[in-house]
Amino acid sequence: MLQTKVSEFVSHVMTALSGCTLYSEQHPVFAEYAEKAAALLEDLFVEGSVSFLMIGESLIVNDTPFLEKSFSVANFLKRLRKKKIEKIVIRKGTDIEEFRQFIAGLASRGEVTPSPNISVGIVEIKLKSSGTDAAALLNKGLSKVKSSFQGFSRFKRLDIVSLEDAVLDFISTLKKEINVLRIVSPVKSHSEYTYIHATNVAVLTLFQAEALGIRGEDLHDIGLAGLLHDVGKMFVPAEVLEKKSALTPEEWLEMKKHPIHGAIYLSRMKDVPPLAPIVAFEHHMKYNGSGYPDTKRMSRKQHIVSQMVTVADFFDALRTERPYRQSLDVRTVTGLLKEGANKDFNPELVGSFLSGLARVSDTL
Ligand SMILES: [Fe+2]
Ligand SMILES: [Fe+2]
Repeated sequence: MLQTKVSEFVSHVMTALSGCTLYSEQHPVFAEYAEKAAALLEDLFVEGSVSFLMIGESLIVNDTPFLEKSFSVANFLKRLRKKKIEKIVIRKGTDIEEFRQFIAGLASRGEVTPSPNISVGIVEIKLKSSGTDAAALLNKGLSKVKSSFQGFSRFKRLDIVSLEDAVLDFISTLKKEINVLRIVSPVKSHSEYTYIHATNVAVLTLFQAEALGIRGEDLHDIGLAGLLHDVGKMFVPAEVLEKKSALTPEEWLEMKKHPIHGAIYLSRMKDVPPLAPIVAFEHHMKYNGSGYPDTKRMSRKQHIVSQMVTVADFFDALRTERPYRQSLDVRTVTGLLKEGANKDFNPELVGSFLSGLARVSDTL
């Protein structure tokens, strides 16, 4: 009985919420479903309140695990996770206006503000990092990326929740250690390359985004898109990907398909923000319209986040030693970035990245 009521309640909340996101708070769908959900509250109250607790992938309602795994429940949990909300308590006396405000808060990009009868437990990113130093936080994030990418193949689903969590660790790391060059990890062995490169690109992209004043939820999507930019490489044959000498023209053709493979793979995953397939598709395109995939006929321009990832990708690739070449020092790489401004890279982004680096590092 309780399970059915909860299922109905969550489904109405999610319909109201998407009405609010897609249209506005004034749209009739929002009003109608917010009212339907509020009408069910009476049946959910136990001793004057109902509590929703999110633990990992599970929803606990009034201390009872809620078993249904419907689309709306999955979306509800995802929304709470995005908002960093772990607990909601709704008390008797909540009126429709207060309830509507609460749903509008969930739909918004900002924080949900607690009201007299509805409290929300928000996990602060700041709290997560208290007492932990930057190196430990970075290692925590790195090991999450490592375990998500380990054994990952086109047949195995990527663990996005753990990657999202890793992004939070990297954002916290950047708050504690402003010198991004100390956060970017060196690749020590060939097997580490995939996840360390993904992490370095995510960190360098987050660093650029923060320098441009981007905060909050957008930052999470940007970090995740950075982590996933090269995911399409798993569709490239291992003998091409791991080849230690120069690629033949045919092998290059295979290699150059990874942005398309990545974009298709990511666009099929429901819990990945739309930014991730865009960035995967565009990260080898260049500012002047060249690069690959060849989109000149469509005169497609790179998304600004793809442009940031292109800068981060270039920087990390040249700083890293590969079987076929030495790593370059920071000064040389920044010199090459300057040379590529206007052609390969957005000049504004290169400028902002380099002045960001100069501010935090004494090596420049
Ligand atoms: Fe790539
Ligand atoms: Fe890359």
